[in-house]
Amino acid sequence: MTKSHIELTINGKKVEALVEPRTLLIHFLREQQNLTGAHIGCDTGHCGACTVDMDDMSVKSCMTFAVQANGTEITTIEGVANADGTLSALQEGFRMMHGLQCGFCTPGMIVRAHRLLQENPAPTEDEIRHGISGNLCRCTGYVNIVKSIQYAAAKINGTPFQEAAE
Ligand code: FES
Ligand code: FES
Repeated sequence: MTKSHIELTINGKKVEALVEPRTLLIHFLREQQNLTGAHIGCDTGHCGACTVDMDDMSVKSCMTFAVQANGTEITTIEGVANADGTLSALQEGFRMMHGLQCGFCTPGMIVRAHRLLQENPAPTEDEIRHGISGNLCRCTGYVNIVKSIQYAAAKINGTPFQEAAE
């Protein structure tokens, strides 16, 4: 099949590649770019394990062709740590609040939460739950994911983090 030439920025690095038009962005990222943090958890666009940030939007990369990413800026979980290699507030929050177990949903969850906190820097619990409703987790029951995002929001905003009473 004729391949298309694409140029995009992934985690701050310029990338050029040849892709088949039918290649899904998730497969391009995982198989051609070796960015295997984003996962595939479904065939129907529900689970959000494949979520990446594309031009400041959360995008399910299993529902996007790689050719559609031509000219865009993409951030994957591999690009969210701080420049000095330390964990981002969200990564730290997920660790501190035990927001992951198997870790399979976590790359998509953190990348989505990153965009959520750009959209709404101080979300309520309801807003967090709504904001991550495109991301499924089979392990945590979500409670600690909500706390992880609250932890990160507090850290970013310089406000004290208080765990809600159970
Ligand atoms: S792999 Fe499930 S939404 Fe993309
Ligand atoms: S931590 Fe296992 S699916 Fe979320």
